[in-house]
Amino acid sequence: MALRDAAGLLIRIAAEVRPLLTQGELPQYIPRLTQVCKAQFGISLAGLDGHESVAGDADVPFSIQSISKLFALMLALEHVGDTLWHRVGKEPSGTPFDELTQIDHERGATRNPFINAGALVVTDVLCSRFAQPELALLQSLRRLSGDERVDIDQVVMRSERDSCHRNASIAHLLKSYGRIDNDVDVVLDTYCRQCAITMSCRQVARSAMPLAVSGEIVGVSEGSNRLSEAQRHIVNALMLTCGTYNASGDFATRVGLPLKSGVGGGIVAILPGVGALCAWSPGLDATGNSVAAGRAVEIFAQQTGSSVLRLSRKQEGDPVAYRSIGASVVVDASGH
Ligand code: DON
Repeated sequence: MALRDAAGLLIRIAAEVRPLLTQGELPQYIPRLTQVCKAQFGISLAGLDGHESVAGDADVPFSIQSISKLFALMLALEHVGDTLWHRVGKEPSGTPFDELTQIDHERGATRNPFINAGALVVTDVLCSRFAQPELALLQSLRRLSGDERVDIDQVVMRSERDSCHRNASIAHLLKSYGRIDNDVDVVLDTYCRQCAITMSCRQVARSAMPLAVSGEIVGVSEGSNRLSEAQRHIVNALMLTCGTYNASGDFATRVGLPLKSGVGGGIVAILPGVGALCAWSPGLDATGNSVAAGRAVEIFAQQTGSSVLRLSRKQEGDPVAYRSIGASVVVDASGH
């Protein structure tokens, strides 16, 4: 897909998802986020070739919430390397993001860095590594997005911190199993600050772009974009299998792209070798994923054929030969 042709597609997607903007719920457990207007939709595509296309409310800042788990993971991997995987797993949980019982059942093990339990451990790692971990994260996001305006919404932060009973339970449970090194309140403060970062679709898409690059990235300054190719591969794999929690299988079949969502309504998608896409709309489905943004990335993937699971020919027009063992069936390009 030539990215310079993408603007028209994004405008058509914005029009197609418009009827969905009345659907979905706002996250009741973060009171400030229930005051957000649902009738908003933005989408932005940041291309590795330098082209950027946007539609709708692509420059309106929103609460990135769990999308921050992706950027925190990238920062932690950059600074502590693969030892991180001694603390956090790489398996789908099959559970909602704020599940408690699985942690106890598995004696404090955290399945992956995107459920809240795993994300709290990643935040704990950042608390050990940095005197001001949320500032380190902000600085890396400002560098990646090329925009100094990326900031923390203190009102959203306070709203979540005052009512984060489930996350406090998860953090204390993890501490009881010796899985959190720092003071639980320090980790919770930091986690709520990182979730309260506000960014626009344009800023999120730009910041996720390093994950779309193949090969080694050389000559870049510090800040979330110095991951090795192997590390980027792992992060993409985790986004595909765990990035939308217990809807990850559904999204893999409908979209087929590495994704990370947040209860602020954002979804970021990695287009390997091409760039990154971010869609945002506040109304959430029962799994905490944006209804309209989810549909938008689905339409985009289908219209551009960009699913990473697409069964494609090496080059358009190449004959496809398939010979089944035993039955000698040959299928040519036209399917005969
Ligand atoms: O920890 C929480 O529950 C929120 N700050 C973030 C959850 C979230 O965004 C889940 N994503 N869909």
